Amino acid sequence: MSTVGIVMGSTSDWDVMKEAAQQLKGFGIAYEARALSAHRTPAELEAWIKGMQRRGCKAFIAGAGGAAHLAGVVAAQTLLPVLGVPIPSKYLKGLDSLLSMVQMPKGIPVATFAIGEAGAANAGLFVVAMLAAADAALAAKLAAFRAKQAENVKNAKLPEL
Ligand code: RP5
Repeated sequence: MSTVGIVMGSTSDWDVMKEAAQQLKGFGIAYEARALSAHRTPAELEAWIKGMQRRGCKAFIAGAGGAAHLAGVVAAQTLLPVLGVPIPSKYLKGLDSLLSMVQMPKGIPVATFAIGEAGAANAGLFVVAMLAAADAALAAKLAAFRAKQAENVKNAKLPEL
């Protein structure tokens, strides 16, 4: 069973998208990550989405750069929640990716996160929060993660002048 499907338009997106995978792994959530393109491999993408649903997938995280229609194409083919991660692009630095995800026309939503690593990590954490709503043990792990994060901030020391 793969609880989360992580898909990206190219293997070059993995450096960013692995941040989502690392968060899921930290919480013991099974995922399957694939590089599949909405425009280069549309048939394989469709088959993978169907297969993931059969394998018990609960949400998809989709990362792409440029005219980043991948997340919208995934959302068009599933009733499961789709979280979009805009990948930084060479010329427009990911603003193009962000706008193409966040400006989805009404009716087929893509929950869009920040450009780059922070967005990928937060997409992973958001899936954890979604699953934790119906899983008390996972909710306890998430609470512990937040508490540790707060402790790190409280204990942080600024450098002496
Ligand atoms: C998109 O084009 C991918 O998501 C990637 O961010 C971007 C560049 O892909 P490559 O040229 O590195 O394969 O499809």
